[in-house]
Amino acid sequence: MKTRIIANGTAYERDVEPRRLLSDFIRQDLGLTGTNIGCEHGVCGSCTVLLDGDPVRSCTTLAVQVDGQRVTTVEGLADGTELNGLQEAFKACHGLQCGFCTPGFLMTLLPIYNEAKRLTREEIREVISGNLCRCTGYQQIVEAVELALNEAAELAETPPEEGLGRVPQESESSRDGSP
Ligand code: FES
Ligand code: FES
Repeated sequence: MKTRIIANGTAYERDVEPRRLLSDFIRQDLGLTGTNIGCEHGVCGSCTVLLDGDPVRSCTTLAVQVDGQRVTTVEGLADGTELNGLQEAFKACHGLQCGFCTPGFLMTLLPIYNEAKRLTREEIREVISGNLCRCTGYQQIVEAVELALNEAAELAETPPEEGLGRVPQESESSRDGSP
C-alpha cells in the first residue's frame, strides 16, 4: 500500500506491505537507524517515536497506520551539530552508558521538555517508567531530565531582556570607523 509520511520534516512516499511495522519502515526503508528495537513487544520503550507530537511505540504500530502523519525520530532533535537541550542534559549528567535506550527516553520526554514543565523526581520517574535501561541505574537519567526541565522552565519564565541582541558598544564604534 502507498504510504506517505513526513519524517523529521521530510516527505517520504513508499509502497509497504500492510503488515510492515513502523519500526522496520523507519529503520530499513527510510534509513533512520537512530530508533532502536529492543523487545519488539511494546515493553522496553527503545523504539519510541513521536506521531503527530505524541510518543508511540513504533514496534507495535503498523507503517500503513501512520499514512499522512508526521513522525519525529531522534534524528530530528539536533539542529545540525547543535544538540537539543535534552540531549545536552543527558550528556552533561552522564545519563547514558551504551546509549541503546537513549533515543526512546529522549522521544518519550520531548513533549514534556517542549512544554517546559517542572517535575519532581518522583514525577520524572513515573514519566520514564515505560522505558527500560540496562546500564545506568536510572539515577543519572533522572538527574539529566531534571536539569533539562529546569533549564527549559527557566528559559520560558525569563522575559526577553531589553536590548538583547544589540550590537555591543565596541562593534558599534568600529563600524563607525572610529579608532
Ligand atoms: S522495541 Fe518497541 S517497546 Fe521494545
Ligand atoms: S544506557 Fe545502556 S541501555 Fe540504557
